[in-house]
Amino acid sequence: MPTPIAQGLKGIVAGESKITKVDWEKSALYFRGYNVRELIEYSSFEEVFWLLAHGELPKPINREWLSQELKRQRKITNGELRALLDNAFINQPMLALALFVAKRGVLRLPVQTTKELPQRATVLGTELCAAFPTVIANLIHWGCAPPRFRMDPTKNSYPIVQPHSDLSHAANFLWMLNAKLVTKKRPDDTPYELYEGEYPTSFEEKAMDTTLILHADHEFNASTYALRTAASTQADPFHCILVTLGALSGPKHGGANEMAMHIFEDIRKPERAAQWVVDRLINKQERAFGFGHRLYKKRDPRTQILKRLGKELCRRKHLPWYDIAREVEKTTLAILKQRGHEDLPANVDFYSPCVFSALGIPSQYMPLVFAMARIAGWTAHMKEQYEQNTLIRPLSAYMGPAPRPYSK
Ligand code: ACO
Repeated sequence: MPTPIAQGLKGIVAGESKITKVDWEKSALYFRGYNVRELIEYSSFEEVFWLLAHGELPKPINREWLSQELKRQRKITNGELRALLDNAFINQPMLALALFVAKRGVLRLPVQTTKELPQRATVLGTELCAAFPTVIANLIHWGCAPPRFRMDPTKNSYPIVQPHSDLSHAANFLWMLNAKLVTKKRPDDTPYELYEGEYPTSFEEKAMDTTLILHADHEFNASTYALRTAASTQADPFHCILVTLGALSGPKHGGANEMAMHIFEDIRKPERAAQWVVDRLINKQERAFGFGHRLYKKRDPRTQILKRLGKELCRRKHLPWYDIAREVEKTTLAILKQRGHEDLPANVDFYSPCVFSALGIPSQYMPLVFAMARIAGWTAHMKEQYEQNTLIRPLSAYMGPAPRPYSK
């Protein structure tokens, strides 16, 4: 039996994978051998989903099939969406997304033989990749809806935003997200409200697509490893996704983008940033959200791209977030350096809020949009784990009382 203890599995290689390579020394990221920088330039998120899930870039026939399949499955009935929104106040949006997954899962027959699992993983991954944008856009609208809807016991009248049948994955999400509530009149003159989608600009579509690709996978991160642990028990794919959503939500992982955004919102003006950071990091000894990474000690390759996008989007939308983020980054890095930490660069979650916010995503839903992208990696990892399965079951170093006689 091995004896060294690796708290948090730090530095442990916990399995083989052919999906994603993180080259932390060169600050580079590869999906199935392709540099993510090239993927954001030449591929769409849909193509990257295929690449991760199937191992190769899609041929035209695969691309067409996937595009049609995602468009077909992005439509969700008003009834299914309303049933989800029926929980009048949704305080924990990630749990609402999990509820959607669980509700779909209970209606499906469990797998009959474990041989089916890899195929089931791809089928469910594709289904959720298509459905998550519609669910998340509706959760956001519901979360931001005028209070009168919440008071209305006949909430059946609450308008649902439905996807566009033809736009790309990224453009469709923005189309639903930025839909406006408008009042129309029926032939008998009674008013009713509905959401009218809004087309994003091509720059916004590309920014969304790029951001989805950058978040699509990151080898054995906490949520993916949690998912692989569940898959290693040969649990049904629905269970694996529920496990991974929970792990992603934490502020040390996918929840960090929301925490960073709360910081920017609290600071409000760039000139308040330095003092705010000093107060939190030095006076209150708080952790700097959006800084540090288990693998990247010099630079997170995703951060530079998101920083550039965030700068341009905030400029176009006249939002202060990028200017605030830059000031926060400057002061935070200086304080961390004074503490002897020059190895805690801004990570993927630090500038992504600037992008997300400028695209219309409120802070508490940012981790859900992370999930909307990471479903690509989860699909690939679930399939890989089922195919080359060894039960994941490490040891613990017992530090409790020595065996002792029973006494109350
Ligand atoms: N702010 C201040 N100090 C930090 C930070 C931070 N964000 N991150 C690490 N440190 C310090 C720790 O205090 C510790 O210092 P010490 O050695 O002087 O005691 C040292 O760096 C090592 O910290 P650990 O927490 O042990 O490092 P680990 O590799 O476990 O943590 C993590 C990585 C969780 C990402 C951490 O850097 C962190 O909490 N960051 C903030 C949350 C965050 O942004 N998470 C998103 C990560 S990216 C993603 O998951 C998508």
